[in-house]
Amino acid sequence: MPLSTRSQHSTLTQFLIEERRKFPDASGDFNALILDIALACKAIARGVAFGELGQVLGDHRAGEAGTVNVQGEQQKTLDVLSNQAFIRRTEWAGNLAGMASEEMDDPYQIPAKYPRGKYLLVFDPLDGSSNIDVNVAVGSIFSVLRGPEDGRDVQESDFLQSGTRQVAAGYAIYGPSTMLVLTLGNGVQGFTLDPNLGEFMLTHRDIRIAPETQEFAINASNSRFWQAPVKRYVDECLAGKPGPRGKDFNMRWIASMVAEAHRILMRGGVFMYPRDTKDPSKAGRLRLLYEANPIGMIMEQAGGRASTGEMPVLDVVPSALHQRIGLVFGSREEVERIERYHREPTHTEEHNPLFAERSLFRY
Ligand code: AHG
Ligand code: MN
Ligand code: MN
Repeated sequence: MPLSTRSQHSTLTQFLIEERRKFPDASGDFNALILDIALACKAIARGVAFGELGQVLGDHRAGEAGTVNVQGEQQKTLDVLSNQAFIRRTEWAGNLAGMASEEMDDPYQIPAKYPRGKYLLVFDPLDGSSNIDVNVAVGSIFSVLRGPEDGRDVQESDFLQSGTRQVAAGYAIYGPSTMLVLTLGNGVQGFTLDPNLGEFMLTHRDIRIAPETQEFAINASNSRFWQAPVKRYVDECLAGKPGPRGKDFNMRWIASMVAEAHRILMRGGVFMYPRDTKDPSKAGRLRLLYEANPIGMIMEQAGGRASTGEMPVLDVVPSALHQRIGLVFGSREEVERIERYHREPTHTEEHNPLFAERSLFRY
């Protein structure tokens, strides 16, 4: 085991200070906020790592009953603890005007005993939490927006900003190693947690997504609910070398979007959770403000693309805090192809041999 102090990598703190020096007027509030978020992520990483020993697996219970969040989803104990970690580590410092989270119905007000700051923090404290009990990688996702600066209580409308207005976005992934992947609007940097030092070290500078790919990720159990452009794209991938794409594709589905996003940043690929007809009351599976927008900003900053299928996801003007949306992201050329399929007239099933009587999508 090499001495950690021999490492040539910068720490997250060093990286942030060097970035701030480029903006002599910056107050330092922003850096302090990112470091507090990083500390929350380290705390969550430790909680996740203890697994069954930490007695934190399973559903969250209040008395006998399980608790359900505003999405109608059963909360895991770690969803609730991770939410608390984000709040407790960031609320005190005077950098935030308010917060919003997947696990809180309404915006969170900074308690009166603390000063209020100029930023809003929006987060998914534990993404992929259905994977927590089976020891598969999970993560946290966050987005930083500008908030009201007059110290008043925040309201839902303060958070309804398009993704292009994000000041910063990032995620932590709790996998074999813990990593923090961050964009401040100037490229994407990856930091690996050094377990000896408890510090995030800059290990992946200026991450760029390969423009082309041969790997896609989608929950194929929803295929009968997909819209025609998505069916067409996946069918063409499955048709492989003899098909219209002329090459074989590989498929992955982890069910932790953070883990899928991370794989795509590392080796390319495309992720799809499109709007489908499974539940017409839902405009998609993923949430715009704390899943699609931060991951979308990271993808775009890494040279990839993020889209609803119809338009860049970062251009969508949100209408509700917990709004859902269809999401496609990853290698630029693949996302553009899926967008093109959405624009082109629908290929009717009769005309497409892949939907013929004995094809891949006939059941
Ligand atoms: P969360 O755990 O925060 O509710 O998010 C889970 C999301 C996302 O991470 C993943 O891609 C997707 O839900 C998985 O959906 P399926 O259950 O349809 O596989
Ligand atoms: Mn999530
Ligand atoms: Mn979550």
